[in-house]
Amino acid sequence: MLEQRRILLIVAGGIAAVKIPDLIRRLRERGAAVRCILTKSGAQFVTPLTLAALSGDKVYTDLFDLKDEAEMGHIRLSREADIVLVAPATADLMAKMAHGLADDLATTALLATDKPVMIAPSMNVMMWTHPATQANLSTLQTRQITVVGPGAGDLACGEVGDGRMAEVPDIIAALSRHFQKDVRRGPLARRRAIVTSGPTHEPIDPVRYIANRSSGKQGHAIAAALIAQGADVTLISGPTTEPTPDGVKLVKVETAEQMMKAAQAALPVDIAVCAAAVADWGVSNPAPGKIKKTAGAKPPTVKLAPNPDILATLSKPGSRRPRLVIGFAAETSNVVKNAKTKRVSKQCDWIVANDVSPGTGTFGGDHNTVHLVTADGVEDWPTLRKQAIADRLVERIATALSGKASRE
Ligand code: PMT
Repeated sequence: MLEQRRILLIVAGGIAAVKIPDLIRRLRERGAAVRCILTKSGAQFVTPLTLAALSGDKVYTDLFDLKDEAEMGHIRLSREADIVLVAPATADLMAKMAHGLADDLATTALLATDKPVMIAPSMNVMMWTHPATQANLSTLQTRQITVVGPGAGDLACGEVGDGRMAEVPDIIAALSRHFQKDVRRGPLARRRAIVTSGPTHEPIDPVRYIANRSSGKQGHAIAAALIAQGADVTLISGPTTEPTPDGVKLVKVETAEQMMKAAQAALPVDIAVCAAAVADWGVSNPAPGKIKKTAGAKPPTVKLAPNPDILATLSKPGSRRPRLVIGFAAETSNVVKNAKTKRVSKQCDWIVANDVSPGTGTFGGDHNTVHLVTADGVEDWPTLRKQAIADRLVERIATALSGKASRE
C-alpha cells in the first residue's frame, strides 16, 4: 500500500520525536518516499542529520532559508506529497493548525497544502484532555484531518493516561488504510460488515455499573483490517479508549440492549464479527437515583436479568442473516471444547476462541492466542499481535466470501 507513496513528515517538538527515525526506516522499507520538515522544537529531540540520513532526502527546517525557497518553496514542498503526516503533533501545533497560524515552515506548509493531512498527537494527559485541545481536535476532525492515536500509557512526564503517540506500526497501519481507501479496492470492496467491540456497561444506578475487562483492541483491529480490505464497516463499540479506525462508521453504545439495537439497525450486511465482551446479564431494575449508603443498613441486592444475545440473534436463519457470522469465545477452561459448543448453540459459522484466564494478557493486551473453530475443524494459531490476528481472520473471510454475491 505504501509503495511509491510520497509522505511529507512534519516532526514537531515532543519526546515522541525519538520514535521518528524508526518510523522513517519502516516507511522506507515499505517503499515510501519520506521528506521531512523539522520544527525548531522538534530539532531539540532529533537531529536534521539523523532524519536526512534515514529519509535519504534533505530535511527542511526554516521558512526563511532563502536557498530553500529558491530551490523549493513551501507551497511546492507541501504539494509534492501524497499525504502530510504530522508526528508527533503537539498541543501547540494542533492549536496553530486549528486556527490557521503560519509562523514557520511546518505551519505554512500545513496551511498551503491541498493534500490529505494525518496527525499523531502526543502530549501530557492533562494537555490532551484540556477542553482547548479537544476543541482544536474537533475543529481539525471537521476538516477531514485523520487522527491516529494517541494511546494510553506511561507518559514521558511521569504521568499515566492518554497522550502517548501512536506506536510506529499503528501509524503505518493508518497510512496503509488511508491509501487503501484512496484506491477503493480490495477483496472485500462493496462488502458490508458489522463488528462489535469492547465491553458493555450495565447500569446499577446512574453512578455505578457492571463491566468487564475488554479494551476493544481485538474488535477494533478487526474493523481496521476489514476496512483495509475494502469493506464498508460499521463498528459498534462499547465504552473504550481505543482510537477509532479510520474509515469506519462508529456507533458508540453502553449497554447490551443498545448494542443489539445498533447491530439490527446496521443490517443487511455480508459479515458480522462479534468480538465484544457483552454482559450476559444486565441489572433487572436499575435505580433511577444514586443508591445511598445508610449507616447500619444491609448492602443492597443487585438482581440480574438476561441480556439479549447479539451473536445468536444475528445467526438465526432467515433472509437478513449475514452470509458469514463470526463469534468469539472467551474462556478460562476447556477453551476449544466450549467454543465448539458455542458455535453450535449460537448457530454462527465460525468461533474465534481465546483464553482469558488471568495472566494471559488477552484482555487489554496487544497479543492474543486463538483457535479458529469452523464446521471443518479447529485451527490453532500462534500467538500474534491482535492486528495480525485480525488481518489473518479477514484474509479468511475474503476467501470464504469470494464468488458469493454481496448485499449492497
Ligand atoms: O477487547 P480486548 O481487550 O482486545 O479483548 C478481546 C476479547 C477477549 C474481548 C475478545 O477476543 C473476545 O473474546 N470477545 C468475546 C468476549 C465474550 O463475550 O465472549 P463469550 O464467550 O462470553 O461470548 C460468546 C460470543 O457471544 C461472543 O462473540 C460475544 O460477543 C457474543 N455475545 C455474548 C453475550 C451476549 N449477550 N451477546 C453476544 O453477542
